[in-house]
Amino acid sequence: MIIDKALNRGVAPVTYGEGTRPPRGDYSRASADYTCAQLYQQYSAADHQTYARLYARQMAQLPGLACDEFIAAVRQLGAPELIPHFDALSERLMKATGWQIVAVPGLIPEEAFFALLASRRFPVTDWIRRPQELDYVVEPDVFHDLFGHVPLLFNPVFADYMQAYGAGGMKASRLDACELLARLYWYTVEFGLIATPAGLRAYGAGILSSAGELRHSIRSPEPQRIAFDLKRLMRTKYRIDSYQASYFVVESFDQLFEATAPDFSPVYRAVRDRITAEGEVDAGIVLPGERVFS
Ligand code: PHE
Ligand code: FE
Repeated sequence: MIIDKALNRGVAPVTYGEGTRPPRGDYSRASADYTCAQLYQQYSAADHQTYARLYARQMAQLPGLACDEFIAAVRQLGAPELIPHFDALSERLMKATGWQIVAVPGLIPEEAFFALLASRRFPVTDWIRRPQELDYVVEPDVFHDLFGHVPLLFNPVFADYMQAYGAGGMKASRLDACELLARLYWYTVEFGLIATPAGLRAYGAGILSSAGELRHSIRSPEPQRIAFDLKRLMRTKYRIDSYQASYFVVESFDQLFEATAPDFSPVYRAVRDRITAEGEVDAGIVLPGERVFS
C-alpha cells in the first residue's frame, strides 16, 4: 500500500515509498493499467498446497470471529485445495454484484489501484508466498488478496463501498489527501470490525487472512476497539509491522457506506486543521469521551 506515484509506463516496476527492497513480482508482463494474465500453469503442486494449508487454517477459525457476510460468501472462492482460476471466480462475482477480479504482478501505484476499483475491478496478486512464509508475508499475495478481500465483494453494500472508495481515491489524489484516505482503507477494508448481536466480528481482509490477528482482534484484551468516527479515524496513525493497537467498529455496512458517502473535500480540510491544532492520534490511544467496545 505504501507505493510511490511513479508514472505508469506499463512496464515500470512499482517501488516502495519507504524502504529500498524492490517489489516481488514481474512487472514486465503487466499492461498499462497494471493488470496481467493469471499465469495459472506456472503454479506448482507446492503452490497449491500452500494455498490449501492457508485456506484450511483460516476456515477452521472463522466461526465466532468472522462476520456472517464473509462466512456466507467464502465458499464462492471454489475448491479449497486449488488456487482459484480468476476468470471463473469473476463470472460468479459478476453475477452477484457486477465486480470482476483482475490479476496484477503485485502492489500497484495508488492511481492505478483507484481506477480499477472505480470500475469495479479488484486487483489480485497472482503469485503465492513461499512455504516458509506461511505465517507472515511482507507483501500481499494471492491468498491475502483472494481469501481476505473477495468474499465481501459478494455483498452488495460492501461492493458499492469499494467502488465509491476507488472514485474517492481518484479525487483524493487531486486534493493531495491520499494519506488521510489510506487510513480509511486501512481501518475498514483491511482491519475493520463490525458489531453484531452475537458480539464483535472481523470484516477486514488483513485480519481475515491472518492466522494470528483474527483471534487477537476479537478476543485479546490488548487492543482498543473504538466506535467508527470518520474524522477521528483519519487522524489516527497505523502500524504495518505488528497487530493493530486500535480497531474501529462499524454497526453495519450501511453505516459505513452512509458515513463515507458525503463529499470528503470539507472532511479533509477539517481533519487537517484538527491535526495542525492537536496532532495525530497514535494507535492504541482512546480519547476522552470516546465509545469503546470490550
Ligand atoms: N465520499 C467520498 C469523497 O467524496 C468518496 C468515498 C466513498 C471515499 C467511500 C471513500 C469511501 O471523497
Ligand atoms: Fe489487502
